[in-house]
Amino acid sequence: MKVIKVKNQLEGGKIAFNILSEKIAAGAKTFGLATGSTPVEFYNQIINSDLDFTDKTSINLDEYVGLDGSDEQSYRYFMNQHLFNEKPFKANFLPNGKAADLEAEVKAYDAIIDEHPIDFQILGIGHNGHIGFNEPGTSFDVTTHVVDLTESTISANARYFASEAHVPKQAISMGIASILKSKTLVLMAWGEGKAEAINGMVNGEVTESLPASVLQQHDDVIVIVDEAAGKYLK
Ligand code: F6R
Repeated sequence: MKVIKVKNQLEGGKIAFNILSEKIAAGAKTFGLATGSTPVEFYNQIINSDLDFTDKTSINLDEYVGLDGSDEQSYRYFMNQHLFNEKPFKANFLPNGKAADLEAEVKAYDAIIDEHPIDFQILGIGHNGHIGFNEPGTSFDVTTHVVDLTESTISANARYFASEAHVPKQAISMGIASILKSKTLVLMAWGEGKAEAINGMVNGEVTESLPASVLQQHDDVIVIVDEAAGKYLK
């Protein structure tokens, strides 16, 4: 695990973008993407670049159950606003949160990931160490699955909704096993609220209680943190 400390999200987003550019030059075609506040500057860097993604594919980590892409709180909507409307791709995959048959949807999403192996995966991290919506206690062996969100995640994400009661209680998420298939992973974290999770991920034991700790077992992971998120790191 390589750790890069930066001043702020702007500098971190630029470094992540430079890594992405190198991977594209080396032939990367499929990109695993995340929502949330963490990758916003990274997406701005992409939008403001002259990189062409019309022959590239994206596959997002997750989507809320019950929301479709026209819903402003859906992750499809977020991705359209922050990246896809400005930078067209060949294909943009996200789980379908409105699927009538959720079990069929998770199988279909696994098939999409198998057909489009991810070259480069962007990750944020939850305060509780989640990656994607893989909450503490999730088996490292699962691929795409339906997740019951924890109270901690529901309250962390309530800032995007009218109230906590409006936050969906379930999501469809790539599993840890899906995430680990990516060739390169870049995890970013900003702010003191992420400091303990980052320290556990880098220096703690590998445990399902801190899902991100599994990244110690992958041989190409780059962690980009600001001073506050990296404050416990030597
Ligand atoms: C989002 C995702 C989540 C977030 C994490 C951090 O697609 O998979 O794991 O990366 O919850 O969220 P922010 O970036 O809002 O702090």
